[in-house]
Amino acid sequence: MKYLKVAELSEIPAGHKKKVTVRGKDILLVNVDGNYYALNNSCPHRGKSLAAGRLANQVLTCPRHGAAFDVKTGHALSDARSLFGRIKVKDCHSYPVQVHGNDLLIAWDPAYDEAECPIIEKGDQLEHVLKDYHQAILLFYTSWCPYSQRFLPIFEKYSSGQLNFFRVLLDKQEELTDQYGISVYPTVLFYENGVCLKRLAGVAREGLQEGELIGFIAACNLEGTDT
Ligand code: FES
Repeated sequence: MKYLKVAELSEIPAGHKKKVTVRGKDILLVNVDGNYYALNNSCPHRGKSLAAGRLANQVLTCPRHGAAFDVKTGHALSDARSLFGRIKVKDCHSYPVQVHGNDLLIAWDPAYDEAECPIIEKGDQLEHVLKDYHQAILLFYTSWCPYSQRFLPIFEKYSSGQLNFFRVLLDKQEELTDQYGISVYPTVLFYENGVCLKRLAGVAREGLQEGELIGFIAACNLEGTDT
């Protein structure tokens, strides 16, 4: 396991937290009484950023449905709450940390770089993603379309390690093609705050090329590190 420098200690005073992006993953760094911890910034319930959550001693509470986590271990301490009742949530992934001088490092498993982007197979999952993610890049495709299949490895290449890239498999949910205005497979959409701001539609009998995806991603101005 190798360690990567992710921040300087002076950037995170005691009782504070800071979100950083490491190789496309959003990580939340927390200082509790001079000890440092690192968690996935994405809430295991529905992916809300934990950076805006309330930190009280070592307990971090998700701002969306109130699930609480022990920042020292990532263990879920309480359920999420919604109109439909309480929902058990998984533990939040925590990363071992090291301090070298003024540098804070986290353990980085190479497998993190190879994680596939999630596949959405139901319309309501897609609605949750658009509600919970400030920015999202969505590939709409089918398993039977050869142009989709040819484009998939390209999309995987650029989504690797990113938290806000998703594949929307349309095989069993063709109604989404009308709902999201998809007339050609593959098509890539960029959403911000639940609004579609950009569209990259494949060309009939050609699909999409790698250069087109690179230009599209660049034009989306995806957010990087912030606090
Ligand atoms: S998204 Fe965090 S508790 Fe629901």
